[in-house]
Amino acid sequence: MPTSNHAFRDRVVVITGSAQGIGYAVAEMLASRGAYLILNARRSEKVAQAKAKLLSITPHVDGLAGDVSDESFTQELVRFAIERFGRLDILINNAGVAAGGLFKDTQGHAFRKVIDINLLGSVYPTLAALPELTKTQGSILFIGSVAGFAGLPRFAAYSSSKRALVNLAESLRTECWDEGVFVGIHYPGFTENEADKTTLDPMGREVVLQKRPGVRALSREQTATKILNQLEKRRFRMYSSKSAMAVDVFYRWFPGLFMRLIVLFRARIMAMQ
Ligand SMILES: NC(=O)c1ccc[n+]([C@@H]2O[C@H](COP(=O)([O-])OP(=O)(O)OC[C@H]3O[C@@H](n4cnc5c(N)ncnc54)[C@H](OP(=O)(O)O)[C@@H]3O)[C@@H](O)[C@H]2O)c1
Repeated sequence: MPTSNHAFRDRVVVITGSAQGIGYAVAEMLASRGAYLILNARRSEKVAQAKAKLLSITPHVDGLAGDVSDESFTQELVRFAIERFGRLDILINNAGVAAGGLFKDTQGHAFRKVIDINLLGSVYPTLAALPELTKTQGSILFIGSVAGFAGLPRFAAYSSSKRALVNLAESLRTECWDEGVFVGIHYPGFTENEADKTTLDPMGREVVLQKRPGVRALSREQTATKILNQLEKRRFRMYSSKSAMAVDVFYRWFPGLFMRLIVLFRARIMAMQ
């Protein structure tokens, strides 16, 4: 379902991890709907490239390179947005890393890196942005994952980090209930990866993600459209695909059966990237 054209006009949006992938697709869609955008990723050349592409759609785009797992950087990011465009209306906590490997093979620092980026990398920007978003009655969206519904074999760190985001979003939502700030969590289904998308191995090294065999993935534009729908409707929980929703509902109604199915299909799950 398309979003209305005016819903994001003149809204100032910070999207973490938006130099490529889902974050960039969301930025591109928001740009064409009149939003003011602040892009972010760690690699400055990627941020510059993304900004250059979006400048062909809107003059209202800027970017700041840095790591969202660094709290002081996230304060700088929020300050930069407010100084650049005068306010902040929407924070999309999208930056995240994929990670795989058996738990027993995982080094402690590798596990911590996943938590630092996927969980604390959403906590810090939210802490920094909350005062301004309270003033503007703005929105905070977390990007979860199907892998965060329940702990999956070979994805202990990633599943833990994404599950923790659900609880964070729930706590914040109830705390903000009377403040007018929208808090939500979006669950992308499998979405097509950029060719150079990386995953963390159990040693904490970034390795290029192999193509997922036999997985039908959503386009990044499909996922971005769902994310914009959620922001517009201010719904707490939304999914990019019907199958992601079905899996979550099934897990919440029948957690015991769900875990037995995971055990049954663990070889197939563990072969996934
Ligand atoms: N694709 C899927 O199927 C899928 C499914 C479920 C959930 N998700 C979630 O959706 C989000 C986006 O995924 P994607 O597939 O678009 O990933 P992606 O292609 O790897 O893009 C991730 C972006 O985040 C940036 N980034 C990574 N770590 C960062 C950090 N510490 N600080 C700032 N920026 C950082 C990356 O750039 P740099 O490396 O330059 O920092 C990149 O621009 C993630 O949270 C992911 O877990 C994706």
